Amino acid sequence: MDLCKNRSQQRLCAKIVGAVIFVIAIAWIIISLRETPEEVKTCEPTITVRKMGQFGNQIWEYMSLYVIWNVQYDILKNFDFTPYIDEDMKENLEDLFENLTIQAFPKIYRQCDDRETITILKDQQFRLPQNMYKRNILLDSYSARYEDVVEYGIENVKKELRFKSKYVEDVMKTFEKIRSEHHLQSNDTVFVGMHYRGGDYIPHLEGNHGTKFKGPPNYSYYTSAMDYFKAKYNNVIFIMVSIDGDWLAKNVAKIQKHGTVILNPYTNDVNRDLTLLSHCNHSIINYGTFGVTAALFAQGDTILYDLELPIDYRGDTLALGLSKILPSWIPMKNTHEDDAVGYSL
Ligand SMILES: *[C@@H]1O[C@H](CO)[C@@H](O)[C@H](O)[C@H]1NC(C)=O
Ligand SMILES: *[C@@H]1O[C@H](CO)[C@@H](O)[C@H](O)[C@H]1NC(C)=O
Ligand SMILES: *[C@@H]1O[C@H](CO)[C@@H](O)[C@H](O)[C@H]1NC(C)=O
Ligand SMILES: *[C@@H]1O[C@H](CO)[C@@H](O)[C@H](O)[C@H]1NC(C)=O
Repeated sequence: MDLCKNRSQQRLCAKIVGAVIFVIAIAWIIISLRETPEEVKTCEPTITVRKMGQFGNQIWEYMSLYVIWNVQYDILKNFDFTPYIDEDMKENLEDLFENLTIQAFPKIYRQCDDRETITILKDQQFRLPQNMYKRNILLDSYSARYEDVVEYGIENVKKELRFKSKYVEDVMKTFEKIRSEHHLQSNDTVFVGMHYRGGDYIPHLEGNHGTKFKGPPNYSYYTSAMDYFKAKYNNVIFIMVSIDGDWLAKNVAKIQKHGTVILNPYTNDVNRDLTLLSHCNHSIINYGTFGVTAALFAQGDTILYDLELPIDYRGDTLALGLSKILPSWIPMKNTHEDDAVGYSL
């Protein structure tokens, strides 16, 4: 460049550079000044849920928020509420389910948490706050508002939580394969999904309930639950899913002796396991949000383990809570060795 060669040209060049920097700085200040008030203005009240726990917990947290939002839609909309979930919760759920209608918090909201937040505890009946103006609503962590969910209708919830077709197709192929392997291609074959939640859930239950927790189920619970279905249907295929290898080592042989039992068709694939159990015709579960979710989605008869604990609106007693309002959910206990034959309701 021979533009800024002599002294006077250099001075002019310096001025031009200075002016350019000045203009850029002013433009930047104007843009940032304009952005800030906009951010605050779009900061409408939110209704959300505190994300906690594992996949099953998060499904229940989402269902709780979704149902409350839809039931209270007119009023909440009137007060300019928008429902949001955490970004990583959205990512987790959309790994398995098709696009969900509730969006993740936009980044912008991180700047407007100065407003008062009303927390709805998980065991508290949902009531719209007296004064909703300029407030956020937050559903407690581990919210599993099963009463609201059932009242809203499982069918309606399933319209929102649609399993991705790649998983459903995969599961249907697995069902077909199992059927042909067992020469049960007649259309009256019934699949009963069985789930055992063990592992860290045992210390969790002991921690929450102390000696009131009488221990997990053993094979005797599962075999009596199987009897229930064997008495009701001709061609039953049981599918047992559990990631607790120690428990399986002790119990699965006796369970497999008791009927046609397929063990873990997928090896610890959370998405496929949940899709599979959710598409069985009936369910046998113990406790925990994973099995409960699958049984609820399957919409068949559900045998659940009777924890003999008071319902406290925590995940532990979710299945028991559901058995109080859904007649097809039946609690059963472990069976003692000597009366292991037959089943009782
Ligand atoms: C889901 O969202 C993605 C990305 O936003 C989009 O590309 C896709 O078309 C959506 N799928 C459906 C079924 O709406
Ligand atoms: C099962 O098959 C029988 C005989 O083919 C048919 O009459 C019946 O409607 C079928 N049931 C279902 C549920 O498809
Ligand atoms: C049982 O479940 C399978 C797999 O989802 C399904 O194809 C079949 O129609 C169901 N049977 C009945 C009787 O609901
Ligand atoms: C299974 O549980 C029942 C009831 O608690 C008990 O009587 C039985 O001995 C247990 N079986 C084993 C193998 O632990």
